[in-house]
Amino acid sequence: MGRKLECIDAGSEYCPCFLAEANECITCSHLQGREFCDCNWRGVCIYQEYVWAGNRKKEVRSSYPATVMEKRDISQNTVVFRLKVTKTLARQLDSPGAYVFMRDKEKPSFFDVPMSVMAVDVAKGEIQVALQVQGAKTKALAEPEKGIVVRGPYWNGILGQRYLKGVKNGNCLVIARGIGQAPAAKVVAYLIRGGNKVRVIVDPGKVGAVFIGDLIKDLPCEVEELDLNSRQGIKVVNRYLKNENHELVFSGGSDKQHLHIIKEIDKLAQKPFIVVTNNNEICCGEGICGSCSTRIDSGVRVKACKVQLDVRRVIERRILNG
Ligand SMILES: Cc1cc2nc3c(=O)[nH]c(=O)nc-3n(C[C@H](O)[C@H](O)[C@H](O)COP(=O)(O)OP(=O)(O)OC[C@H]3O[C@@H](n4cnc5c(N)ncnc54)[C@H](O)[C@@H]3O)c2cc1C
Ligand code: FES
Repeated sequence: MGRKLECIDAGSEYCPCFLAEANECITCSHLQGREFCDCNWRGVCIYQEYVWAGNRKKEVRSSYPATVMEKRDISQNTVVFRLKVTKTLARQLDSPGAYVFMRDKEKPSFFDVPMSVMAVDVAKGEIQVALQVQGAKTKALAEPEKGIVVRGPYWNGILGQRYLKGVKNGNCLVIARGIGQAPAAKVVAYLIRGGNKVRVIVDPGKVGAVFIGDLIKDLPCEVEELDLNSRQGIKVVNRYLKNENHELVFSGGSDKQHLHIIKEIDKLAQKPFIVVTNNNEICCGEGICGSCSTRIDSGVRVKACKVQLDVRRVIERRILNG
């Protein structure tokens, strides 16, 4: 039976990609080595693009030196960088779920870390990212010796994007904890642009600070700071979920947080769409290295850097079944 998976890169300027050349395309059955067209892709035919490109992939994403325009300490373990990139890259990253790989310019490419883009100034060609220092890669990046290298654009930082892009004039709840605030900032702006009423719950978490305040303060949304690890915090979230009839709920944080929200939603009569941060370990972002491989229901392994996975199934499987 054919695989019907949604590839985040399908139809983009980076499609078809390396996977097509290896007969491993996520979307196109011809480019999986089969005889018949059996895909659910509604955009320009990926196989046709492949043939027109001379039976080859399209262009590959590039790495760019990025000038650090500003570096702001947010807390003991977190900094925000404002980076000058090309205007084209800034435009490509101006979307919820967008992220880049970044590393200290002096380090080899295996120091690349995926970082969500939390704000974009297309006119100036600038992006902002928040970096929480954890281990070897992020320590090096927090104190770059001779600048930063950025590779992108990538878009699969959020799972459930079709719901995010589809909901209009609805009632939405955005829950963001710790470094999960970074991808949440663009989600809030996007939902408000779609005419949605948005309530934002933000928890400083391990970052120890709310750092998206400036990005959302002028937007027409209600913002509330809570400790989501406290009984009181959980009670408030559960009450909103129960009483406010949301069309969509976004969770920016750990898989454990996502699972708690999914379980609460399961108790509701009218179930909102769930959109979450993609917490897989992502190294190449191109479907090649395999670090993000995840098993889905059918037992098939898929690349979480490329595929818009079913949120509920993947979180339940990962947390409950290990
Ligand atoms: C799409 C995406 C967007 C992200 N956005 C941000 C962000 O905006 N700000 C931020 O501070 N962090 C973000 N992260 C997480 C960040 O990439 C990791 O914290 C970082 O790679 C850790 O590397 P390390 O060497 O410092 O730590 P390590 O000591 O190697 O690991 C610390 C923790 O990070 C996880 N991790 C390690 N490598 C990766 C990896 N390549 N991808 C994902 N998780 C990894 C490990 O499983 C472990 O839980 C994002 C991750 C993804 C997948
Ligand atoms: S991150 Fe390399 S295959 Fe997904």
